[in-house]
Amino acid sequence: MDPRVKATMARVRPVSRVSVPAGSGRTQQEPLVQRNADSKTGGACAPLRLSDLVRDLISLGVRLGDLLMVHSSLRSIGFVDGGPETVVDALLQAIGPQGTLVVPTFTYPTAGDPEFLFDPIHTPSQMGAISEAARRRPEAHRSIHLAHSIAAIGPLAETITTSGGASGWDAHSPMGQVFNRNGRYLLLGVPYQNLTAMHLCEVWLGLPYRKPRSSEGRMRQPDGSTTPLVSIGTPPLPGNPGSDYNRLGQRMEDAGLVKLGPVGNAIARLLNAHDFRTAARDLTRQDPNGFLQQGAAVTQLTHGHTIESEKGEHCVVDPARMYRAS
Ligand SMILES: CC(C)(COP(=O)(O)OP(=O)(O)OC[C@H]1O[C@@H](n2cnc3c(N)ncnc32)[C@H](O)[C@@H]1OP(=O)(O)O)[C@@H](O)C(=O)NCCC(=O)NCCS
Repeated sequence: MDPRVKATMARVRPVSRVSVPAGSGRTQQEPLVQRNADSKTGGACAPLRLSDLVRDLISLGVRLGDLLMVHSSLRSIGFVDGGPETVVDALLQAIGPQGTLVVPTFTYPTAGDPEFLFDPIHTPSQMGAISEAARRRPEAHRSIHLAHSIAAIGPLAETITTSGGASGWDAHSPMGQVFNRNGRYLLLGVPYQNLTAMHLCEVWLGLPYRKPRSSEGRMRQPDGSTTPLVSIGTPPLPGNPGSDYNRLGQRMEDAGLVKLGPVGNAIARLLNAHDFRTAARDLTRQDPNGFLQQGAAVTQLTHGHTIESEKGEHCVVDPARMYRAS
């Protein structure tokens, strides 16, 4: 038995099976935990526990020793006993002590505010509760960037978060490190539109609509003083129609390059940087505008349900099982 499961075996409950919609690279039946009624998940289920999440992550294909960058929505997973801390524990347990967990702790929503001060120790992640819970762990390291910092936990955390210079997305940047070390990406209840590595692909491919741009701001030092901070982003040029990253993601799914399955109620998608890079190159050879939105809406994903909320998009098995405050 996998030791990661054994560690939480006392709390594992029986599984039922539910089939995943047809048309993907994954045809086998996916395990789904049968749980009891609860009001926070549309009256359908009892809270998910650590053991449930660890088992689902392992079933999905998360491996010991993975370098794993996670984009997530807590609400998509359903009611989790212990909230975001339990999800971080599950991720760390699934990759084991040899693995490195990476989360975006981006602050781009407010980085343009003239009052914004980047404090690596205290400025919260604006990329969801799970990323913030990981950032706050005492063992977490955080990179320095006005808009695109990341946090990491594990043996590669310090190397990754301290590499590169002012750029958030170039080959030497922390996110470039994940990309170039063939890291794996886990979309936990969110669509490919949230997969930041898509931007890295665009930069790597030299697509003409993304150009480096410097931003000047301020940063708080550990002694409390503030110093100037110049960070480089690679925003799209004006007039850009917007991105359709779901298009490449769906192509990869159709080609069997994405592991798909439920983690709780979230549709989880797991892919690696190597496959991703190859698929991105192939797409843009066929269509140089392959990453750009070409119709009225982005590509619809064929698996599960994609639900829009006031905060973002959620990819779920069953909309009725998303967390809702009672
Ligand atoms: C925006 C986004 C984070 C919103 O997702 P979300 O699930 O609504 O929010 P969070 O992940 O922050 O989780 C907090 C929510 O979980 C829910 N929640 C609270 N306790 C919970 C529990 N025990 N179990 C499950 N859900 C719970 C609540 O709805 C809470 O929202 P509230 O604080 O407003 O009440 C998500 O849609 C997203 O886009 N994630 C990816 C971000 C990213 O990596 N972007 C990369 C650049 S594009």
